[in-house]
Parts: sequence; structure tokens; C-alpha cells
Amino acid sequence: MIYAANFKTNHTRQTTKNYIEELKEKIAGKKTEDSVYIFPPSTALDRFEGDFTVGAQNAYPTQNGAYTGEIGVEQLEEFSIKTILIGHSERREIIGESQEIVAEKFAYFKEQGFEIIYCIGEPLEVREQGDEAVIEYLLAQFEGIDTSYDNLIIAYEPIWAIGTGRSATVEEIASTHEALKKTVQKPLLYGGSAKPANIKEITSIRGVDGVLVGSASLDAGSFSEMVLS
Ligand code: 13P
Repeated sequence: MIYAANFKTNHTRQTTKNYIEELKEKIAGKKTEDSVYIFPPSTALDRFEGDFTVGAQNAYPTQNGAYTGEIGVEQLEEFSIKTILIGHSERREIIGESQEIVAEKFAYFKEQGFEIIYCIGEPLEVREQGDEAVIEYLLAQFEGIDTSYDNLIIAYEPIWAIGTGRSATVEEIASTHEALKKTVQKPLLYGGSAKPANIKEITSIRGVDGVLVGSASLDAGSFSEMVLS
């Protein structure tokens, strides 16, 4: 299983350092086949050593240059970061990243050999239209994306389940993952209100290869509980 923690705009450089120290101790006994990823805010990136991978939540598709407020590959290389989240719904919906921009980022970081966790997810009004509408919506988020890329992990995160405390049901996750796997044969994570109380249920679903966790990952104790579940 893959357990990924997305801090979003939470934690500082200092609290991330403390978190990682605590996490290292707590997950010392984790199964070797399980892998752990941490995506801190960009100000907290560093060279962390341990049995986990640290990745960037976002970066601009450039080595360096005049892109005020952005970071590029040069800033990530300083910390040997070679993993990135692309297409998170908060970037699509709040920051306004179009599919075209997302695809451009994907192509660039693929070219750079990054491991990419590519996020897709539907809004509530699409979910309410039923399974067929959901799949159609999700497949459109693969437009311009090379889904055969070796270093690719997909994360299915229904937008209505993110940060709401309301996870998708086992049936919803199972049927969506099954449908997605027909098109894209890559490790497939579920994200959306995953927490210690539902982790076992989620990771037991066929077609779920791991979780991408927001709120419940912010506390090292809660996240390590999930990793060890
Ligand atoms: P929550 O776990 O807070 O619902 O967030 C999920 C998410 O968006 C992870 O990327």
C-alpha cells in the first residue's frame, strides 16, 4: 500500500521537521512493501532522510526563470526532490489550472523523470448524475496525459469528499477504481476524508493501492496509525 500525506497549506518548516522526526520513529515497524510519501508546503522542503519519499505539492514547469511566486526544478533539485503532485482539484478549482496547463506540467515533469502522482476527481453535481457521468468526467482529466508513463501513480479524489469528513462509500470507491483500472493500469490511490477510522475499510477495497490523505495526515500520530493499520 501507498500512504501519502498532503499537508496542503499547513505546517511550517519547523513543525514539518518535528513531524518527520516523530513519523520516522512511529513507522519504524511498517511493512517493507508499504511506501510512505510526504508533501509538505514548499517552504518546508528539505533533505529529509528516512524510509519515505518527500515530494512537492506543485512546481512550475521550468528549470528556473521569471515566474514570480513559483518554484522550478532548480529549487527542487536543491533537496533532491523528484516526486510531484499534479492536477490536484484544489489547484484546478481554486487556482484555476486548466486541463491544458495540467497536461503541460505533466509533460514537463515527465520529461524531467519525476515520479508523478496525478490527481483526478469529480464535483458533487457530476457524482449525482451517476457512475457513467463520473467516469466520463474523470477520463476527460486524462486528456493530454501520457498514462503509460512508467513513473506514474494516479490518485482518485472525489472533490465532495475532500476535507468534508464524508468519504466516498465503499461501493463508490470500488466501482470507480474498477472502471478507471480498465483504462489506466497504474497504482491507484483514493483520497477524500481518509482517516484512521476508515483506513482499513478503504485499503481493503479491490483496486485501491493506497491513499492520499489531507486533514488526517497533519498529525504524525494519526498518519502513522494509518500507515501501520
Ligand atoms: P482530506 O483527507 O482532508 O479529505 O483531503 C484529501 C486530499 O485532498 C489529499 O490530497
